[in-house]
Amino acid sequence: MFEKYFSKNAQQMQGSEIREFFKLTEKPEVISFAGGFPNKACLPTKEVEEISSRLLVEAEEGMLQYSPTEGQEMLRKYIVKFMAKKGIDIEVDNVLITSGSQQGLDLVSKIFVDPGDKILTEAPSYVGGLGAIRNYQGDIISIAVDDDGIKVDILEQKLKDLASKGKTPKFIYLIADFNNPTGLTISKKRRKRLVELAEKYGVLILEDDPYSKLRYNGIDEPAIKSFDKEGHVIYLGSFSKIFIPGVRIGWVVAHKEIIQKLILAKQSTDLCTNSFGQRLIATCGEEGIIDKQIEKLQEFYRKKRDKTLESLAKHFPIEASWTEPDGGFYTWVELPSNLNSKEILVKAIDNNVAFVTGSAFYVDDQGNNAFRLSFSQPDIDKIEEGIYRLSKTIKRELVKKNEIQKHIG
Ligand SMILES: Cc1ncc(COP(=O)(O)O)c(C=O)c1O
Repeated sequence: MFEKYFSKNAQQMQGSEIREFFKLTEKPEVISFAGGFPNKACLPTKEVEEISSRLLVEAEEGMLQYSPTEGQEMLRKYIVKFMAKKGIDIEVDNVLITSGSQQGLDLVSKIFVDPGDKILTEAPSYVGGLGAIRNYQGDIISIAVDDDGIKVDILEQKLKDLASKGKTPKFIYLIADFNNPTGLTISKKRRKRLVELAEKYGVLILEDDPYSKLRYNGIDEPAIKSFDKEGHVIYLGSFSKIFIPGVRIGWVVAHKEIIQKLILAKQSTDLCTNSFGQRLIATCGEEGIIDKQIEKLQEFYRKKRDKTLESLAKHFPIEASWTEPDGGFYTWVELPSNLNSKEILVKAIDNNVAFVTGSAFYVDDQGNNAFRLSFSQPDIDKIEEGIYRLSKTIKRELVKKNEIQKHIG
């Protein structure tokens, strides 16, 4: 009814199949590997309650008032220290506080993407990142990945091809640590190379990093941003997965000129980020509560990751393969190409188990035989049962498809 009123830009916006589908997975009897939500058993409710009431009793005006668009000074200073521990040396003016990193993805797309601009991404990639770029009509070019993350040789070839046609992509969107959806991590060698390529071809990098602190084994990789000397890398951080998502606090680290433009873009979006949440996060950060929570989460999710991988090895058919993430929330499962994860999902839901289909993480017709399992949400004692249910559905589909193939053959 209102279609004719919508702007051309709004008319081309598309819903994501994953967001629509979450409603189905919320039935209590479903063991859901679908949502990338922090586990509710691990939310720091007591700490948040104590600090919030203390700050309110102290009648901090800053808690309930508007605050500067760029973010409260106390939180920006905490972010400077947080980033220094990651080997990233910045000043307060390099930081913009956002309503979650999702707003960072939107604002960066808003200030850089004109309709038809080329944006390079890993394939598969985070559905919310792809959505933000597409909402501004960016033309996404997908680059394949292997166990070491984005294939930099293919990326360079693409950059060369585009340069030969006089085209420079605006940015390369990357989730370097425990990628959503694959769980893969980009190797140090490739991170360095990515910055070299960005400098050589004059393209920016958007490094989206909500998960790097959730490492369960191995050693931390340096952020891509830590190799950046010329300001080519824009870094997005978030407290959603490492502390709480409900207050919607994330941040952008970038060259001051970029931050200034982002502030202008943010002013017309929400004027400022949640003041209450900023003060709460800054206080929890300064008092060491966030660091403690991260340690707790590492222990908590490590066990879930291990249980998931163990159960996959025990129950899944040999025709399936999956990634073994060193951190984060996700493993990516691939099935033989004649299997379709959307068809499997319908049957899996009947069997009270859920995941997200692979095609949601691509902009072209890929990922139909793949899916993402998130191990963050199901209780640890439900994980094996969930994987077992799923394996039964997959095995049944395999038999069915193989019989059809025999008939055709
Ligand atoms: C890779 C990635 N980027 C950004 C986000 C958005 O997070 P936030 O809650 O900070 O907006 C998510 C959430 O799942 C994510 O996985």
